[in-house]
Amino acid sequence: MTRTSATGSTSLPSLPHWETVPDDLPTAIRTMKLALQARIAASGRTVEEVFAAIEARVGAEVADIAAAKARGETVWPVIDYADIAAGTVSAEQLAYLRRRGCLVVRGHFDRDAAVAWDRDIVDYVESNRFFENYQGPGDDFFGSVGSKPEIYPIYWSRAQMQARQSDRMATVQAFLNHQWRYESDGVQWFDPDRDSLYPDRIRRRPEGANSNGLGTHLDPGTLDLWMTQAYQQAFRHLFDGTVEQYDPWDASHRTAGPQYPGSTMCSAFRTFQGWTALSDMDHDQGVLHTVPIPEAMGYLMLRPLLSDVPDDDMCGVTVNRVFPASQQWHSSLLEGLTGIPDVKAGDSVWWHCDMIHSVAAVRDQKGWGNVMYIPAAPWCPRNEAYASSVREAFITGSSPSDFPDENYERSWPNRFHFDDLNAVGRRSLGVDD
Ligand SMILES: [Fe+2]
Repeated sequence: MTRTSATGSTSLPSLPHWETVPDDLPTAIRTMKLALQARIAASGRTVEEVFAAIEARVGAEVADIAAAKARGETVWPVIDYADIAAGTVSAEQLAYLRRRGCLVVRGHFDRDAAVAWDRDIVDYVESNRFFENYQGPGDDFFGSVGSKPEIYPIYWSRAQMQARQSDRMATVQAFLNHQWRYESDGVQWFDPDRDSLYPDRIRRRPEGANSNGLGTHLDPGTLDLWMTQAYQQAFRHLFDGTVEQYDPWDASHRTAGPQYPGSTMCSAFRTFQGWTALSDMDHDQGVLHTVPIPEAMGYLMLRPLLSDVPDDDMCGVTVNRVFPASQQWHSSLLEGLTGIPDVKAGDSVWWHCDMIHSVAAVRDQKGWGNVMYIPAAPWCPRNEAYASSVREAFITGSSPSDFPDENYERSWPNRFHFDDLNAVGRRSLGVDD
């Protein structure tokens, strides 16, 4: 543990920080909470006052979402790809995108192209006898051999790479990256016009499927969000009495700091998580939901400091487990949970990297539920560092280092090859500057 005074105003008490996972977590959590509480108190406000300010801000949005639903309106912003490409997205649409922190891009790809990609993926895995060789979930020791997965640990198909390096993807990623504030204090925190290729998996959930979905959670980190110096600076306004200035779109100090390792970690800084639909999906067929309020992160960060939470508990957040949003601690936020509207193959879906999300359960699913996970991950020191291991995984056909070490594609001859990279692909892997 080290103490620092680099977290904003020098007149406030400094915060301890741990740049690697503390050995004694309960003690570190207790120490951290006392220090954060003392820092807020020294600003002249109480923790309760600061929390009430963010609670009111978020509560107004929860009420607005409920009212929109009652009027039968679609809560998720929807923007046509054609308007993004032409630069004709209205100021009103932009404001709503930033207010809700999520987006459906209609017609991001032609429907026929997306359906053809879906077929290509089936050909790719079948031609390489993937289902016969599938060993079960890579992170589940007792995984059942031979069962057909819904999440395919496949990264290097032509379909995925063609989508990742397409001009249409780059256009939408740049549009989304530009919603953030990426320059401050003379630092450019990331390059909004250049993405780093973040290889992720695909999901193909068949007709008739039953799925329990995924509970409400978020993916930006775990205890490192409170305990590392870079995140303490990123979330400085929450802890120095200036909570009203907290801006979920400010990238300051978010793109270079360390992260605590864990089975669910993402090495990249993503402005938005996202996926591209490879089948049509109706809104009631086990789809993605978010709490479409980017400021809710302030609530999640401050909630553990209130007196009703045990001293060594961060509302259930701990290392090596996904960050939960729970009825116990966050019930008023969860009232805002809102699903995507119906989407067609070729539409894409995006949500701010700090936002609570879940996947609804489904019984006897109508139609397929197929997606390629492709986020927006702009070029920055963190993503440049990860790009070198991504390049290596790409060249050898291996699983990327953020994912289980399954490596199904190493011997597959028809995976996407280095010579198939275009200019966007080469830059996104750091092959070219
Ligand atoms: Fe997630």
